[in-house]
Amino acid sequence: MADSDAKMTKATPQEVLVSVVLGLVAPLIAIVLILFLVNSIQSEQVDADKPEVAEKAILKNIAPVAKLEALDANAPKVEKSGEEVFNEVCTSCHTPGALGAPKFNSKGDWAARLGQGFNKLTANAINGIRAMPPRGGNPDLSDLEIARTVAYMANSAGASFKAPEPAAPAAAKEAAPQAGK
Ligand code: HEC
Repeated sequence: MADSDAKMTKATPQEVLVSVVLGLVAPLIAIVLILFLVNSIQSEQVDADKPEVAEKAILKNIAPVAKLEALDANAPKVEKSGEEVFNEVCTSCHTPGALGAPKFNSKGDWAARLGQGFNKLTANAINGIRAMPPRGGNPDLSDLEIARTVAYMANSAGASFKAPEPAAPAAAKEAAPQAGK
């Protein structure tokens, strides 16, 4: 009995070798993983105080969680209305007044800006101005969509801009075969 007990606890040379190797490798793996972790945390926090970096972080945070776009390359682009674009893109800053954005519906916030005129406001929305990103951060929006959205927003705050209409589809159809000749 005592003999068999002794046998059970006695390790073979191979087992000793394996446990020695594992004993050395395991802490090494742990150290490497910790280094990776520290590295990734550091690279996330680099320069978080800089305004450009903070702005990027905000844009990242307010970006849609998932984007599913099934696009037919031949389909004509359907221009969205100002209201649709506002609710999809601009509302994140212009409803709460984030980063100092003039709030939707706020006459006080817009009064001083409206004097610039519709074209200038639209140009600033297209090109961006200070903390306002170009096209509200969505480069897919057309000039027409931005212009309509500016009219929608400004009109909520007392302006009476006329939202531009898209070019008549008939004109575009006529032009297409001409181009093919
Ligand atoms: C990331 C936040 C953010 C988003 C998204 C955003 N804006 Fe702005 N917007 C701002 C800020 C901030 C200002 C004020 C900029 C300033 O004058 O310093 C501003 C100002 C404006 C102005 C006034 C510009 C002027 O000349 O006074 C217009 C017009 C405007 N935004 C339109 C839009 C439209 C249209 C969209 C959506 C397509 C949009 N914004 C999306 C932050 C945003």
